[in-house]
Amino acid sequence: MTEYPKTITLSRSTGESMDFVIRRCEEKDLDAILALQLAVFEQLCDQSVYALVGEKEIHESLLEDYCFGTYHDDELVAFTMMIANRISHRNYGTYVGYPEERQAKCVSMEITLVDDRFRGYGLQKQFVKLREDIARNLGAAEALVTIAPGNDFSLSNLINSGYEIIETKPLYEGAVRHILRKQL
Ligand SMILES: CC(C)(COP(=O)(O)OP(=O)(O)OC[C@H]1O[C@@H](n2cnc3c(N)ncnc32)[C@H](O)[C@@H]1OP(=O)(O)O)[C@@H](O)C(=O)NCCC(=O)NCCS
Repeated sequence: MTEYPKTITLSRSTGESMDFVIRRCEEKDLDAILALQLAVFEQLCDQSVYALVGEKEIHESLLEDYCFGTYHDDELVAFTMMIANRISHRNYGTYVGYPEERQAKCVSMEITLVDDRFRGYGLQKQFVKLREDIARNLGAAEALVTIAPGNDFSLSNLINSGYEIIETKPLYEGAVRHILRKQL
């Protein structure tokens, strides 16, 4: 199991490389996470591709789930959150009718945000691997993620990471989402 904080060097397709530190987030990081979420949301060309996650849910996940930040020069530049395989209305297994025994083996990949100045370094794929690693250690057998049909960058990263679309339906206040699954 990887130890955090972890320092990584990643490169863009242009060859430019950058050092990042990935560490687990704590309660004290809540304001920075909310600010990053808002900044990323406000600069999206199509805001329908991202449903803002509430402060209450992020706070709960800082205490009960797995939240990681990527830092460059001590600034939070990317964030991800995975809901553990616990029984909750937030377990995505509830979206596809899983009984509780199956929810108990299912993690939900809830948020990934990358500040637009730091896109193209493959941070989303790093976050996918990191969360899957933790999920396997928790004894999870599968991971679910929801993605807006028009979110091409996120969709291609998840499909290239082995996720498959299993259903497409209205989810967040009626907004349509693909639900993707991967066996871990
Ligand atoms: C989806 C997201 C996390 C991907 O970020 P990332 O990991 O840095 O993206 P990648 O490294 O895979 O980028 C691959 C290529 O797509 C480009 N790209 C990635 N996201 C892009 C975006 N939103 N708009 C335009 N280009 C984008 C990158 O610049 C890169 O281009 P290149 O190959 O020409 O260098 C990021 O776009 C984002 O935060 N989007 C808003 C929030 C969101 O939709 N989150 C996912 C749902 S929870």
